[in-house]
Amino acid sequence: MEEIARATSTRGELVLSQRDDGSLELRANGVFVMDTVETSTERALATRALALHHDPREVLVGGLGLGFTLEAILADDRVGRVTVVEIEPALVDWMRDGTIPFGPPVMADPRVLVQVADVTHLLRVAGPSAYDLVLLDVDNGPGYLVHDANADLYRSPTLHEAKRVTRAGGVVVVWSAAEAPELQRTMETVFGRWRTEVVALPVDLQGRPESYWLYVGWKGD
Ligand SMILES: C[S@@+](CC[C@H](N)C(=O)[O-])C[C@H]1O[C@@H](n2cnc3c(N)ncnc32)[C@H](O)[C@@H]1O
Repeated sequence: MEEIARATSTRGELVLSQRDDGSLELRANGVFVMDTVETSTERALATRALALHHDPREVLVGGLGLGFTLEAILADDRVGRVTVVEIEPALVDWMRDGTIPFGPPVMADPRVLVQVADVTHLLRVAGPSAYDLVLLDVDNGPGYLVHDANADLYRSPTLHEAKRVTRAGGVVVVWSAAEAPELQRTMETVFGRWRTEVVALPVDLQGRPESYWLYVGWKGD
């Protein structure tokens, strides 16, 4: 394993490494955030939401990571603008300057608008009905947080804000590494029981079959 880049912020240390097989791995304060091996569910976060909307022009992506959700959103010509909210400025730099080799073409797409901010804050200050799709993948899910401060993201007040900034007919999707029944109940409270969906996505974690999860809420017309 070779360290490629390291940055320190108020949240601690962010380290990007390259494994012996060439894949990249991102860790925050030593905790695994993601890698470039199993990226199917980061992409599914985008493709699932895109499939649920007939005209997804304005998209909010919370958590840039290594850009797989963003790339999948940009692959859809219907999308006119993607606002990406990422809390770690170094990660935005690494994606832009080629430290992450596949980053520059994704970040150079003229439809991409990057905001370095806490997405929970952005949801609070954004205007109403600003987005068709709101995609949230900023942590491992409510049960196993990289940053304790992200707990609020999975709670009712923030999810109400996510609904508020979504246009009628729009979709909010939250990614989770583990099944999260409480998050499901919160989504049902916020969006209404018949306007939510839970999607289990099978993944292969180095030979170990697992599931990652999407929690979907529709904002009614
Ligand atoms: C698991 S990664 C996202 C992966 C992404 N979906 C992809 O396709 O690569 C989580 C990202 O969210 C960022 N993040 C963590 N907390 C955040 C917050 N409160 N607001 C915005 N970004 C946050 C992390 O720095 C990291 O880049």
